[in-house]
Amino acid sequence: MITKSVNKAKEALINNQVIGIPTETVYGLAGNAFNEIAVSRIFALKNRPRHNPLIVHIKSAEYLEQIAAQVPEKAYKLAVAFWPGPLTLVLKKKSNVPDIITSGQDTVAVRVPNHKTALELLAHLDFPLAAPSANPFGKISPTSPEHVNAYFKDKLEVILDGGICVKGIESTIIGFEDGQPVLYRYGSLSVEEIEKVVGPLLLHTKNDVSPKAPGMLSKHYAPATPTYFTDDVEKFITQHKGKRIGVLLFKDRPLIQMASHVKILSSNGNLDDAAHNLYQAMHHLDNLNLDVIIAEKLPDQGLGKAINDRLNRAAK
Ligand code: TXA
Ligand code: MG
Repeated sequence: MITKSVNKAKEALINNQVIGIPTETVYGLAGNAFNEIAVSRIFALKNRPRHNPLIVHIKSAEYLEQIAAQVPEKAYKLAVAFWPGPLTLVLKKKSNVPDIITSGQDTVAVRVPNHKTALELLAHLDFPLAAPSANPFGKISPTSPEHVNAYFKDKLEVILDGGICVKGIESTIIGFEDGQPVLYRYGSLSVEEIEKVVGPLLLHTKNDVSPKAPGMLSKHYAPATPTYFTDDVEKFITQHKGKRIGVLLFKDRPLIQMASHVKILSSNGNLDDAAHNLYQAMHHLDNLNLDVIIAEKLPDQGLGKAINDRLNRAAK
């Protein structure tokens, strides 16, 4: 049930239920991070492999010492600069963090979400929340309570309504190797912003065999409709002539060939707006029972990198 009641959400969590929660990035499927029953329910609901670890959501940076055994200097700098916000830090974990959350690894992923309702909920709880994105494994992430409801319907007693997610794509994930920051997943905090604070990032986002962050698996964030990702949309439209075609464009422009359904991510070509609208547009096109979706490549800078990353994985 979709509700605005933080109290109902709190009650359900105390009873080890899993609920939908809003964050500034995407909706999460949340449970008590210190309760193994609640956490195993998250994996079951999402149909998520157990070797794919979860992010722990905490109420403030001060709470970090309850979770992380070791915090490199550059991690502190990033937490100070960007929390609450769409940045997840992967740090050495304390032994009280259950292995089920970290898939047995000695590191834990942690962030402070920048969402009024989520922070209010966390402030009322004496435990942090484990929460992956609230979609079945591999599917498009949800950015509205209605998306979560469409995926899980009566399986969730509570979906806490916090409106449409402001950022619209997942947090950026940074780990540390020898104290140096490493990018594990592109996300709604741009690499450029992060590098202003800690200098150049190492990139570890393409390892398919043993991914550091399985959000980086080559196929992920995928619509059910066959999807193509290209910088030559017109050519793909021609190739699929006669089919029912959906097109996802970065900004408003006349198409040489008309397609049946066109979604524009940002009419004036703003990358923040495009990120905000991305999953909403993908859900929309995917629900039209089209034969194909053709998605246009965005400029490879700022949030364009994260959007291209998601579209590329959606198309594999
Ligand atoms: O914006 C977000 O990050 C959203 C909201 C709900 O906070 N959450 C999210 O969770 O995207 P999820 O489970 O869909 O993606 C979490 C990613 C996965 O790719 C996972 O592999 C990675 O975080 N991860 C978790 N723990 C990790 C660890 N110890 N080391 C490396 N990667 C880790
Ligand atoms: Mg996810």
